[in-house]
Amino acid sequence: MIIAVDGPAASGKGTIARALARHYHLPHLDTGLLYRAVGENVRRMELDPTREADAVAASNFEDDLLDDPALRSDEAGQLASIVSAHPLVRAALLQRQRKFAHQDGGAVLDGRDIGTVIAPDADAKLFVKATPQIRARRRHAELKEKGSTLSLDKVLADIRARDQRDMGRDAAPLVMAADAGILDTSFLSIEAAVKRAIELVERQRQLKAAKV
Ligand code: CDP
Repeated sequence: MIIAVDGPAASGKGTIARALARHYHLPHLDTGLLYRAVGENVRRMELDPTREADAVAASNFEDDLLDDPALRSDEAGQLASIVSAHPLVRAALLQRQRKFAHQDGGAVLDGRDIGTVIAPDADAKLFVKATPQIRARRRHAELKEKGSTLSLDKVLADIRARDQRDMGRDAAPLVMAADAGILDTSFLSIEAAVKRAIELVERQRQLKAAKV
């Protein structure tokens, strides 16, 4: 079974995807990390993230980079959102994601374009969302725990900038797949959001099974 979990920054999609992977005993891929790795690599190579050729040159990163805590920083998130708008960067990362999604037994992937581009044939699709203010509060708390001193206002501004870039780009913009189940986590605890996510997946599986 392939489960696609898409949604904007700090919506809770990563937590939900990890919980679904545990629940269904499936491997999980956080595809945002791949774009964060490209962004971080651009920074380390002192390249220009807005130039497609530079970003493509940085797409050939070592797998070890995916475990680097530097990828979780706000700066890496912003750089990821800039490099991910380049079609050739998306193309460079496509096969790896498709292969992961279509491995034997299935997988859970979270990102922006899983249900629309990477695995349009997914068995279940979720679109996870929350208000920008609530997402900013969550991300602010997360970053503070890691020692960041960014203000809540700055985190909110960064989230809005990222939303605008992710939704406004031509290449695989953040849009909800027509057949995705919406999960608004704004006023849900993690436990309640995960429970609802499992219900949505089960409902989609039953609908698919009824169609066959
Ligand atoms: O965790 P958060 O939502 O803040 O970010 P992320 O999922 O790690 O993604 C970082 C950036 O990578 C996003 O702002 C997107 O621009 C980009 N991304 C993408 O374009 N496509 C994906 N499948 C995943 C991430």
